[in-house]
Amino acid sequence: MKRILALLSALLIAASFVSCNTANKSADTDKAQAEEVVTDFDADTYYTRLTECVRQIKEKTDFVPDIVLVLGSGLGDFADSVKVVAEIPYGEIKGFPVSTVSGHDGTLIFCELEGKKVAIMNGRVHYYEGYDMQDVVLPLRVLHLLGAQTVILTNAVGAINTDYHVGDFVLNIDHISSFVPSPLIGENIDELGDRFTDMSKVYDEELISATEKIAEKENIATHRGVMVQVTGPQYETPTEIRMYRSLGADTVGMSTVVEAIAAKHMGMRVCCISCITNMAAGLQETISHDEVKSSSDNSAGNFSKLITGLLKEMTV
Ligand code: HPA
Repeated sequence: MKRILALLSALLIAASFVSCNTANKSADTDKAQAEEVVTDFDADTYYTRLTECVRQIKEKTDFVPDIVLVLGSGLGDFADSVKVVAEIPYGEIKGFPVSTVSGHDGTLIFCELEGKKVAIMNGRVHYYEGYDMQDVVLPLRVLHLLGAQTVILTNAVGAINTDYHVGDFVLNIDHISSFVPSPLIGENIDELGDRFTDMSKVYDEELISATEKIAEKENIATHRGVMVQVTGPQYETPTEIRMYRSLGADTVGMSTVVEAIAAKHMGMRVCCISCITNMAAGLQETISHDEVKSSSDNSAGNFSKLITGLLKEMTV
């Protein structure tokens, strides 16, 4: 009997050793897999890329911007009227993503505007071009590392809110980013910001009300609204638009919200001025990129007044 008991307990010990070993093995496999996923995006490599872009810019100019102005679809003409201090095509900065979309020239323009030191991003890259979100927000991160603490984002959007009209402007008071990947996914870049960033108040009230004051003076229609970012490149279906409306969105676009997230992560002040280029799907017959471009061309004058007025009014 004693022998049988001893044999049984030996078997039990052996079995538990095997199962413990198997558990350890699967924990090891999990860890290895996790490490593999993390190495897809390496924060150190990415941060080095950022600082390398900063170094290349500093080699070309000693201009230190306070404000970044991101020009959206068709709004690039604004940059033609500014007194340029330095101009660098994105393609000349190794590590900078370069846009493939017509209407997004892709030049970094450093200038003094209304007494403010501004870095204009004339053109941006989009997620739908195939870039990672980390690439999409890279230029803004570089310009923040160069010194900018405030960003004015501009874009073209479709209006979901039926009180809005083509040619009106919308000042974002909030956004929905749930339909696009976060630019903060992957190992956190501690030099830029915290792992978990509060998004309760992304858009700066002072900048919103300053823009509204100028709009009132200039007789330009503005609204306070909520923007949803989608991946594109296809425009939405009418049913998707009804869904976004029921979720609380007033406007829809294929850019910008992720830049606002990256900016907030870095502790920047954020303002977003959207130009309504079309009513969203289902609210007008069809939507085309040509229409979006020509509508934003038509709004260029008012857009210019809002931006220059805001730059004049704002403190850095
Ligand atoms: N949908 C998405 N993005 C846009 C639109 C739109 O209707 N108009 C301009 N950008």
